[in-house]
Amino acid sequence: MATLLTRTLGAALVLSSLVSASPVPALLSRQSTDAADLSACPGYKASNVKTSDTGLTASLSLAGTACNAYGTDLTDLTLTVEYQTNERLHVKIQDAGNQVYQVPASVFDRPSSSGNCSASSADLIFNYIESPFSFTVLRRSTNETLFDTSAASLIFESQYVRLRTSLPASPSLYGLGEHTDPFMLNTTNYTRTIWNRDAYLIPPGTNLYGDHPVYFDHRGANGTHGVFLLNSDGMNIVIDDTAGQYLEYNTLGGVLDFYFMSGPSPVQVAQQYSEVVGKSAMMPYWGFGFHQCRYGMQDVYEVAEVVANYSLANIPLETMWTVRRTAAIRVSDHDG
Ligand SMILES: *[C@@H]1O[C@H](CO)[C@@H](O)[C@H](O)[C@H]1NC(C)=O
Ligand SMILES: *[C@@H]1O[C@H](CO)[C@@H](O)[C@H](O)[C@H]1NC(C)=O
Ligand SMILES: *[C@@H]1O[C@H](CO)[C@@H](O)[C@H](O)[C@H]1NC(C)=O
Ligand SMILES: *[C@@H]1O[C@H](CO)[C@@H](O)[C@H](O)[C@H]1NC(C)=O
Ligand SMILES: *[C@@H]1O[C@H](CO)[C@@H](O)[C@H](O)[C@H]1NC(C)=O
Ligand SMILES: *[C@@H]1O[C@H](CO)[C@@H](O)[C@H](O)[C@H]1NC(C)=O
Repeated sequence: MATLLTRTLGAALVLSSLVSASPVPALLSRQSTDAADLSACPGYKASNVKTSDTGLTASLSLAGTACNAYGTDLTDLTLTVEYQTNERLHVKIQDAGNQVYQVPASVFDRPSSSGNCSASSADLIFNYIESPFSFTVLRRSTNETLFDTSAASLIFESQYVRLRTSLPASPSLYGLGEHTDPFMLNTTNYTRTIWNRDAYLIPPGTNLYGDHPVYFDHRGANGTHGVFLLNSDGMNIVIDDTAGQYLEYNTLGGVLDFYFMSGPSPVQVAQQYSEVVGKSAMMPYWGFGFHQCRYGMQDVYEVAEVVANYSLANIPLETMWTVRRTAAIRVSDHDG
């Protein structure tokens, strides 16, 4: 399932860059991510807030003159907050017109709400400030702030979405795969690019084959929580401490569809994440056997000869893989 998810998100990534760009005439230069370009962006103002036992909805409107840094600012957004389970909070900011690309339910089935979770008892607390709009997520048991978007104004444009959260100093962050960087992520001057890539020889410091825009924030005795952004557009996630410690999403489009998971243990975060993205497939029985693979097999006859040679040598071979030139071939089981 994990592999399938990676593949479908990869396909959706290509699709989304076509669809979400549709309101804009031409692709603009995006060489610069200089903050100076974005300082004039006005942020949003919340209104029409409707709260219920299980969450809230609100309208967000552009709070000033559009900055149109990369494409055009969307003037009207909607905010939806759902306490889906005691451990999972769903926060979604999207265009009011519902035209911007979202990963379709056909490739990513959304988790359902338990239906009996209330704002007053959930592990996580959602708070917001109306103007300029920002929100926080707190852990109820410790009242610790886990996520706080007041660190920079929200930007929601046709070709660019930015949301920044402040974090404690030197946070212990993991995830945002797939990449070859250290397991614990760097927290200064660090950009994690999420863009599927066949990185030949998997060099250090690069993005790889899968998209997993989820991070685990480990806060020692205070617990671990997870933050998943369900967005398949290409993105840079910047982690730095130049304006206090922060983590900033910069996407090429799509919507801000967050799932916050309360843990509090890392294993529980992983379990709660699997309830959102789906469980991993069971390893097939034959997958436990001996596999052989070599790049550059000339043809199917060479592969057959290798298989035959395993048999001649009485070496059990469960699976034979080939790279590129010939399709993967699974050979029949050996008696032993
Ligand atoms: C809430 O619903 C979930 C399943 O939807 C169930 O497992 C849980 O026991 C329910 N909790 C309460 C307090 O009713
Ligand atoms: C919890 O934290 C928030 C934000 O830091 C603060 O406004 C509030 O007073 C705190 N509540 C308690 C009960 O400490
Ligand atoms: C735990 O939370 C408290 C209260 O917010 C905070 O003062 C403390 O620094 C936190 N500890 C860690 C390890 O994050
Ligand atoms: C940040 O990293 C880049 C390379 O990724 C490097 O060129 C630059 O000097 C670094 N800046 C600081 C302040 O360390
Ligand atoms: C992460 O930081 C370490 C040292 O703190 C540095 O050696 C390494 O190059 C950094 N990696 C990236 C991908 O920035
Ligand atoms: C199979 O084994 C024979 C005899 O050892 C050898 O000459 C041949 O190169 C082997 N074939 C392959 C594809 O390795």
